Amino acid sequence: MTASASADSANIFVRLEAPFTDQKPGTSGLRKSSRQFEQPNYLESFVEAVLLTLPGVQGGTLVLGGDGRYGNLRAINVILRMGAAHGLSKVIITTGGILSTPAASNLIRKRKAIGGIILSASHNPGGPDGDFGVKVNGANGGPTPGSFTDAVFECTKSLEQYAIVEAPALSLDTPGVHSIGAMQVEIIDGVDDFVELMQQLFDFDRISTLLRGDFPLAFDAMHAVTGPYARRVFVDLLGAPSNSIRNGMPLEDFGGGHPDPNLTYAHDLATLLLRGNDYRFGAACDGDGDRNMILGHRCFVNPSDSLAVLTANAELAPAYGSGLAGVARSMPTSSAVDVVAKELGIDCFETPTGWKFFGNLLDAGRITLCGEESFGTGSNHVREKDGLWAVLFWLQILAVRRCSVADIMNSHWERFGRHYYSRHDYEAVPSDAAHGLYDRLEGLLPGLVGQSFAGRKITGSDNFSYTDPVDQSITQGQGLRILLEDGSRVVVRLSGTGTKGATIRVYLESYVPSSGDLHQDPQIALADMISSINSLAEIQQRTGMESPSVIT
Ligand code: G1P
Ligand code: ZN
Repeated sequence: MTASASADSANIFVRLEAPFTDQKPGTSGLRKSSRQFEQPNYLESFVEAVLLTLPGVQGGTLVLGGDGRYGNLRAINVILRMGAAHGLSKVIITTGGILSTPAASNLIRKRKAIGGIILSASHNPGGPDGDFGVKVNGANGGPTPGSFTDAVFECTKSLEQYAIVEAPALSLDTPGVHSIGAMQVEIIDGVDDFVELMQQLFDFDRISTLLRGDFPLAFDAMHAVTGPYARRVFVDLLGAPSNSIRNGMPLEDFGGGHPDPNLTYAHDLATLLLRGNDYRFGAACDGDGDRNMILGHRCFVNPSDSLAVLTANAELAPAYGSGLAGVARSMPTSSAVDVVAKELGIDCFETPTGWKFFGNLLDAGRITLCGEESFGTGSNHVREKDGLWAVLFWLQILAVRRCSVADIMNSHWERFGRHYYSRHDYEAVPSDAAHGLYDRLEGLLPGLVGQSFAGRKITGSDNFSYTDPVDQSITQGQGLRILLEDGSRVVVRLSGTGTKGATIRVYLESYVPSSGDLHQDPQIALADMISSINSLAEIQQRTGMESPSVIT
């Protein structure tokens, strides 16, 4: 992409020789390798299309920040200068440019901004050899809908130039008010507003009593965005010892790690909790702070179960004491929460993968809590999943019930039965092989009903499609489902967030009632389903992989 520039008063118009068409339609924002973002005019072209498409840019207020990864500060500088050229009246930015995704959602809502730009590739590794991303959230604080991202994509295809102003880079070290041309730049402490919101939702005194007692906890920020938030909340306000926070300093390359809080990538934390005896509670969040993993002493909480436990215990948190409007889970998430919702007599919605589908339900007041199997849990307090919120919710429950995480899980299963669950990811599969596997399996689906699978009869099979109950929009092709007679199921999807090759996700779920064996290893409880899907979908032959890259 080469360019020439011309100036019109303060605005510089940089002409683009080739249109920029690199965005995957239907995906929220743009997530690519850091190297791709360093190509001349690459970031600028996408930002131009966003600023031309987002409603209210002229005279509007925008929230801006990111997870601190390599490229964050450069992108902030570019977006500020382009925002000024496009007539924004104000950009709210946080010290160090550090802003978690849920905190950004809160700020957009609180400050009545037209939206926000969040610089993150979420849980993907960062650094010059890692990934970078630009996410755009709307005025409700949530990810922009598919119609917006499609419009941005259309715009990028015919883009001929972008507008920018010259301005020196601002120091983001301290709060203050600056200006770039007519646009005001307000630098604020990014932690304050978020902490204030958490204090409204949870009983900090009660949690503090727990943490000041014999309740050692380990929180792993994975050298990503949540370090400063966690320090303020757990150490400064709740009184946990300072060494409770691990990897608390945000680093541009996340210390070389993969900031995804699961048993593989947060392995050190998992070992501390699952093998050691020093901690009673452990938690981790991802790159941009929207995901969470919860661990107890010798106990891993599956994210689908976590949503069910929060739903069943919601009354213990001040914010949710008066009951829940309803709950929602993404389709591949286990049905554990459905059983709780049924008992509570509230609605439970099944949406496609991705947070944006919860936004409509939250905005319409149809649900209060929602979550995904991929370590995302949230509520109507913002319009993103929220990692630290989930950790605080668990601590609130533990502070009231005064028992171990394992006790909470055991009593939950004894009451509702257990949904054994596991996700197997095959990462970096050559795209042709992954699509070949998927298309072939989809072709097999109609013939499967009535056949035997893992010793059970197949009672249904489809490619999941969703009609939004609020706006009736239809979203198709959301994953292949094989449903068995006893309520067990297997789902196969291709990831929409990977940047290297394709990722095949296989989701396995099997229900055991409270009278059954509640204490098996999920890989053993699901073993026959795992081998059946492996042979049906020819996973080993087609991927050339002996085993999944990640098992959760
Ligand atoms: C993954 C998760 C999905 C989540 C998304 C963004 O998407 O599976 O639940 O909403 O990341 O955090 P996928 O890569 O599966 O498309
Ligand atoms: Zn994330």
